[in-house]
Amino acid sequence: MHLTLAITGASGAVFGREALRALEADERVARVHFVASENALRVLAEELGVSGRNDLVEKLLGTAPAKTIQHSDADIGAAIASGSHPSNGMIVLPCSMGTLAAIAHGLADSLIARAADVTLKEGRPLLLCLRETPFNRIHLRNMTLAAEAGATIFPCIPAFYNHPVDSDEMARQFVFRVLAHIGLAQPGAYVWKEEP
Ligand SMILES: Cc1cc2nc3c(=O)[nH]c(=O)nc-3n(C[C@H](O)[C@H](O)[C@H](O)COP(=O)(O)O)c2cc1C
Repeated sequence: MHLTLAITGASGAVFGREALRALEADERVARVHFVASENALRVLAEELGVSGRNDLVEKLLGTAPAKTIQHSDADIGAAIASGSHPSNGMIVLPCSMGTLAAIAHGLADSLIARAADVTLKEGRPLLLCLRETPFNRIHLRNMTLAAEAGATIFPCIPAFYNHPVDSDEMARQFVFRVLAHIGLAQPGAYVWKEEP
């Protein structure tokens, strides 16, 4: 699979890091296109103590990436900005209300918004893992608009019935649900009442 992972300036940078790690480790994934918005950099520094721009993927993985290419959010000429480039879908995790608005209204003025726009026009899976609370009516309307255009609204709402031992485990299990939704069921994913 060829997938795009975008991280935006919503809280929940740990979700993005866990998604990146899982995609890098997954043998079914050949290529990951990674984009962090300018505001994601601020939240990454705030929440994970990870700063910098150019070697962000390596910092998040803790090792050099084998299959992940990082693009600048300003680079609207990157491969993923065109529908001619093969892709199996895009995950925005975490997705801010600002990026949701841009996608819902087709602004396409950043690489993340453009790649999402392309994903929708090509009828490919687009998962928007939103994080905000509470929602105002603009958020709710934008969610409906994006869903009507084909996006899956997949809010960052982790489960508790799997008894996560810490926030990293909680984030990892949430990410496993996201990846299962896009066809990448993960080993180690909690399954409710799994058959022996
Ligand atoms: C520490 C921090 C946490 C934030 N958390 C959220 C959040 O959970 N949801 C959200 O929509 N915006 C959040 N924001 C605000 C966004 O970063 C801001 O609206 C930004 O313009 C989003 O830009 P982007 O979508 O291009 O990344 C947060 C900002 C900071 C600094």
